[in-house]
Parts: sequence; structure tokens; C-alpha cells
Amino acid sequence: LTPKRLAGTRILVTAGPTLEEIDPVRFISNHSSGKMGYAIARQARLRGAEVTLVTGPTCIAPPLGVDVVRVQSAQQMREAVRERLEKTDVVIKAAAVADYRPKLRAGNKVKKETESLTIELEKNPDILAELGACKGKRILVGFAAETQDLVRNAGVKLEKKNLDMVVANDVSQEGAGFNVDTNIAKLLFRDGRVEELPIMEKEELAGVILEHVEHLRGGERG
Ligand code: PMT
Repeated sequence: LTPKRLAGTRILVTAGPTLEEIDPVRFISNHSSGKMGYAIARQARLRGAEVTLVTGPTCIAPPLGVDVVRVQSAQQMREAVRERLEKTDVVIKAAAVADYRPKLRAGNKVKKETESLTIELEKNPDILAELGACKGKRILVGFAAETQDLVRNAGVKLEKKNLDMVVANDVSQEGAGFNVDTNIAKLLFRDGRVEELPIMEKEELAGVILEHVEHLRGGERG
């Protein structure tokens, strides 16, 4: 039986991709399956936390005992997270939020009348950076999906977004990142520590992340 070390802790996890509509039938998205975030939500629940899972569209079943909030776009994810922030002690952002969305969403299906088509994109809000700016006593855990300079780029995100911990994964490595059951992560902390983890099931990595959250919470309380 898993010890309920997170009993009384309110954890909000984001998972999956966001989906940004071009017209009623087309969209921009990414390869996130939701597996990583759902594993964190499940393991947090097993450890006794009160869990809210804000999820983009996925094909997997959410864990039992978790409050599930379904969203589609980055803007909807931002609203869902913001609305629940007051009642949250820990935020873990495993979602792969689309950095850009089409500037205009066509009301009708775009016709293929031209040889080429340009879609203008505009930047989505960085939800995690916004949370970092009003962090308070909350613990913020971000992910960093990189294909080069993993530790350096993840370190910049830790700093810029005012995070307590970053789970950095090189998504170009086999067995890591999008849409597989395993991941290979390095954990970065504010004091400069980097913990290098071997390949492991996402469920197991979720457990390791939550053990660190327990310690970070301990420091916050003590
Ligand atoms: O879902 P799976 O198939 O299991 O795949 C898991 C995963 C690869 C999606 C996951 O391990 C992962 O790396 N998630 C983060 C993906 C990502 O968007 O990384 P990023 O480096 O672009 O963003 C850094 C952090 O900022 C992330 O915590 C992200 O949620 C957050 N962010 C990014 C952009 C944005 N506009 N708002 C955000 O909050």
C-alpha cells in the first residue's frame, strides 16, 4: 500500500496536448498522449492528494478519484487553471501547450482554391510563466520538452518561469517524451542540483516526481 504522504495536499496536474482550431474541421496540435500527466495524477491520488486534472483531448481513461476538467485550447487551459489556483498547493504542468494558435479561426471550412495557403499564427499565453509570476507559497513543477541542450534550456525555463523543479526530457531520445509508456528525465532544482534518472515507466517517474514534491512541501511548511 502506498503511504498517504500527500494527504491534505491539493495538486493540480495539466496533461495532454492543446488543440488550436483553424476552421471547423482542422486544427494545430502535437503528439502528447496525456500518459505522463495522467500517471502523475494517478500517483498523486494514490498518495492521498486531492487531485484536479486539467486535460487537453486524449484517448486514455482518467484515473479514478480525480476531478477531471476537459479543455481544448491553450486559452481554455489557462482559464481552467486560473479559476482553480486559489485552492491549489502544487501545480504540475505536464501538458504540451501549443505555443501558437491561428490568428483567425475561419467560420466555415477553408476551401482548397489556391496552390498554397498561409496561416498566420499568434502567440498563446505561457500559462506556467504566468503562474510563476504570482507563485505565492505554491510549489510549481514544470516540464521541459527539448531536442537539444536539454539541461541548459531546462535551466532557463526553471529560472524564467520561477519554478521549484523542472522535469526535463529530451523528446528526440527513444523511449522518452511523447506517446510512449516510458520516459528519460533529468530533474533540475533551484539550488542548481540536477538529478539524472534512467529510463523508467511514466508511472514510476511520476512517483519520483511526487517524492520530490513531498520534500519541497516539507521545506515550505517547516
Ligand atoms: O503526454 P505524453 O505523450 O505522455 O508526453 C509527455 C510530454 C512529452 C508531453 C511531457 O513529458 C512533457 O515534456 N511535457 C511538456 C511539454 C511542453 O510543452 O514543454 P515546453 O518545454 O514547451 O514547455 C515548458 C513548460 O511550460 C511545460 O510545463 C508546459 O506545460 C508549460 N507551458 C508551455 C507553453 C505555454 N504556452 N504554456 C505553458 O504553461
